[in-house]
Amino acid sequence: MYTVNVSSQLLISNNQIQKKIKELASQISRDYQTKLPILLGVLNGSYMLMADLSRVLWRKGFRTFTIEFVGVSSYDKSKTSSRNPIITKDLSIDIAGKDVLIIEDIVDTGWTLKFLKKYLTNKKPRSLKTLVLLSKTGKRETKVSIDYLGFKIEGNKWVEGYGLDTKYTGRGNPDIVEVHP
Ligand code: PRP
Repeated sequence: MYTVNVSSQLLISNNQIQKKIKELASQISRDYQTKLPILLGVLNGSYMLMADLSRVLWRKGFRTFTIEFVGVSSYDKSKTSSRNPIITKDLSIDIAGKDVLIIEDIVDTGWTLKFLKKYLTNKKPRSLKTLVLLSKTGKRETKVSIDYLGFKIEGNKWVEGYGLDTKYTGRGNPDIVEVHP
């Protein structure tokens, strides 16, 4: 079997992630109870979070949401942001007049979310909010607001798992780990 030769350390377990998702889902179902929100997952990193969050919302009885994805990429094989995000998969529905909740796995430098907010604002949604599982504060280069936050990561750790990759692999790990190259 092919293996990758790096060492890693558990940072946030899947149990902790699931507990946090339940808290976030409670807030969302309360805040959006009279609305029909579009949960807009940012590919590729948010695929696992979208699956878990949507299931938890459903079990809580909050079922009036639309699932949609947009692909944005700022990193390829590099660990440094291009600072020039590109759309890799555009929206397939019209969000004008809708309540859109961006679901993002991580905010690091902030360029991806900043770009995406501007891109989506031009499409005239009624409201645009952001749920971010991880906010890495050590490398922030531009200010972005986050409405629903999972965890803060101090410093400049390279994290992987729960949707997040290192050079295209590592996304399937149910836990979030710190990777030492
Ligand atoms: C990652 C992550 C965020 C973005 C955050 O995406 O999923 O979207 O980087 O970084 P930033 O705050 O420094 O802009 P990436 O470009 O690696 O694409 P991916 O989701 O397909 O891995």
